[in-house]
Amino acid sequence: MGYFRENIEQLKGYEPGFQPKTTDVIKLNTNENPYMPSPQVIKALGGIKVDRLRRYPDPLADEFRQAAAQVHGLEPDNFMCCNGGDDLLTIAFRAICDESRAVAYPVPTYSLYPVLAKVQNCEAIEIPFDGEFNLPPKLARAGAALTIVCNPNAPSGSFVSVGEMASLADELPGVLLIDEAYSDFADENCVGLVKDFDNVIILRSMSKGYGLAGLRFGYAIARPELITGLMKVKDSYNVDAVAIAAATAAIKDRKYFAETTEKVKKARDLLVAQLRALKFEVPQSHANFVLAESKNRPAKEIYEQLAKRNIYVRYFDLPGLSDKLRISVGTMEQNDILILTLKEIIS
Ligand SMILES: Cc1ncc(COP(=O)(O)O)c(C=O)c1O
Repeated sequence: MGYFRENIEQLKGYEPGFQPKTTDVIKLNTNENPYMPSPQVIKALGGIKVDRLRRYPDPLADEFRQAAAQVHGLEPDNFMCCNGGDDLLTIAFRAICDESRAVAYPVPTYSLYPVLAKVQNCEAIEIPFDGEFNLPPKLARAGAALTIVCNPNAPSGSFVSVGEMASLADELPGVLLIDEAYSDFADENCVGLVKDFDNVIILRSMSKGYGLAGLRFGYAIARPELITGLMKVKDSYNVDAVAIAAATAAIKDRKYFAETTEKVKKARDLLVAQLRALKFEVPQSHANFVLAESKNRPAKEIYEQLAKRNIYVRYFDLPGLSDKLRISVGTMEQNDILILTLKEIIS
């Protein structure tokens, strides 16, 4: 007998993007924010008393829930904090799915979903997007206990309208989890649906728009009944005292957040135009990355050539993606170096 459950023995496991050990590289492979977190975060970290580390943290992270409620115009009991958005995904799979309760999601999308389905031993119903990344009509009819739509989608950067998401929530028999890890860079979001639908969970991350990927902090937004169900499954102390203080300072600093996300959006739109000028096919992105299809060189070759020059982007050897590169938006300067290097490689 193996030491692990059969599905774990069979599992390949999620492969996170490469994290280089040195800092003298241009790192555009894991959709981090190119800008520093708010100065208020540094202040909050400096102000943490050691006694706060001696004690367990607040299991509900109420300080953050109150700040988030103000930002989103909801109540604190509409929120559950988690150790990054990935923690919420794990909690949702554990709370909602099992051998007889499937998950469904359109593909290609975030490659963690199938891994979590295998860990939970539930069926994963994968329904392909069309060429324009429109929501597949079959999704609503799949009858899954949990349906996930990543919006804006990763790795395409495409966006499904709020109206379409509302219709989907209305049609589904089960829970709709809308993964809004990248919504800080989109013009619209689905948070308002929480007021209208008792089956919607919104996932938010502090890793992208707030530049806090290293902190590990995310949150769920939903009706209090759904939040109570998710809370039963989470670790009691899933977010630590330092993370609560830093994330609360970050979400409260609206001015800094607006300035940095605006800079990323501007740099993204310029990057799309520059890549198109180099004959890459690039759909409009609503996130902090772009998906570029190479027409004159294999994507894998470009990826390897960039890595040799210490520029890291993401290459997925997966159906529908192996001719494309996912490139995180850097600072204007980093993007300029990327474009100059790409010109050199493909000329
Ligand atoms: C689509 C999507 N959802 C959720 C996450 C989770 O983000 P985090 O756990 O850093 O909050 C990521 C991270 O890359 C992501 O790409």
